[in-house]
Amino acid sequence: MFITLEGPEGSGKTTAVKAAVAKLQELGYQVVQTREPGGTPIAEQIRNVILDKANTKMDPRTEALLYAASRRQHLVEKVWPAIKEGKIVICDRYLDSSLAYQGGARGLGVDNILNVNLFATENTYPDLTLLFDIKPELGLERIAKNSDREVNRLDLEKIEFHNKVRQTFLDLSKRYPDRYIVIDASKSIEEVQKATMDAILARLCK
Ligand code: TMP
Repeated sequence: MFITLEGPEGSGKTTAVKAAVAKLQELGYQVVQTREPGGTPIAEQIRNVILDKANTKMDPRTEALLYAASRRQHLVEKVWPAIKEGKIVICDRYLDSSLAYQGGARGLGVDNILNVNLFATENTYPDLTLLFDIKPELGLERIAKNSDREVNRLDLEKIEFHNKVRQTFLDLSKRYPDRYIVIDASKSIEEVQKATMDAILARLCK
């Protein structure tokens, strides 16, 4: 089972899933929690290049290819082996982030980015994608209040960019209704955690 968490900046997806992971482990499932870009040493090195605030000259297609490269390495080293061992892999961001950020917001085209990523992932789609939907203004406000989280190159984009990210995610949820569940991330932590757990358990029982 391959579960991905998606959403704009500050949607609280990482916090929301913590409780779900603990609960799944309690129920006896083996869970691997990981993130993109990164998750393995090589992929983390690529992450540092992508998100470095000093890399203001990075070309949009270079950015898209680096995300796809990092994704491939992470699949090969971590995700595929864990799935083969029967574990549940929960990954903070995956393919749909590239579709929303590079395809939608950067304007490279969702289908162009999908093609690059189908090559990189050998057509590996998640079984379940939880979209933590939130208005960008609210998400960015949350980040500003969270002193633990370092501001990255993409956080610095204008609000229109973040609006396009959100809209593309919502469009993707309609394009892939079988694997997408949209969670209202503006609700309280408890409500968001409950919706997260319910969605995962429903998929596991399918
Ligand atoms: P995060 O670790 O805080 O989620 O930051 C990763 C950033 O990278 C975030 O701004 C979203 C962005 N991103 C893309 O633009 N494309 C991608 O494919 C992925 C995985 C992330």
